[in-house]
Amino acid sequence: MFRQPVLRQSVHRRVPRRSTLSLLILLVIAAGIALAQTAAQPPVKIEKAGAAGNIARGKYIVEGVAVCGQCHTPRDSNGNFDRSRWLQGAPVPYMPAKPNSDWPINAPRIGGTPPASDADMIKLLMTGIWSDGNRLRLPMPGFRMDRSDAEAVVAYLRSVTPNQ
Ligand code: HEC
Repeated sequence: MFRQPVLRQSVHRRVPRRSTLSLLILLVIAAGIALAQTAAQPPVKIEKAGAAGNIARGKYIVEGVAVCGQCHTPRDSNGNFDRSRWLQGAPVPYMPAKPNSDWPINAPRIGGTPPASDADMIKLLMTGIWSDGNRLRLPMPGFRMDRSDAEAVVAYLRSVTPNQ
């Protein structure tokens, strides 16, 4: 009367034991692969990836969000951006609706070597205040970026070379 259930139990037990063992082996192999990959990556590569990520984010902000090129990139005769002079400075394409004798004629070059120190560039993008302690004139927007966005924009601007 008692034997049958005992036998059944032992038959049932074998299956979970085997699968537990193979799972364990798989885990050990997976951990081994993960460890080997970590060991193969030199720390320099990780640093480079971080800097590149920053530049990619800056490019996204400059081209896709803050559209700095609208004012800071010259256009060809069809009104398209001249990519060979990307962010190299351009005539301001807008006129004020109300006459303003202090309206800037040019949006200066911002791509390549920055026109101010990184600290001043970041301050401008975070506060709207330029290196001389004043706000820049309209239509330059008074940006209020957070620090990591401002740093990403500066990293990207530094990376810009004509013909991009
Ligand atoms: C709507 C037009 C417009 C847009 C968009 C714009 N700017 Fe400007 N920017 C200007 C103008 C015009 C000036 C010149 C202001 C002045 O002379 O007071 C200027 C000046 C600057 C300066 C000062 C440069 C110098 O040498 O004096 C920097 C730096 C700058 N812009 C960065 C940027 C960045 C970065 C972006 C995008 C995140 C941007 N601007 C977007 C119009 C624009």
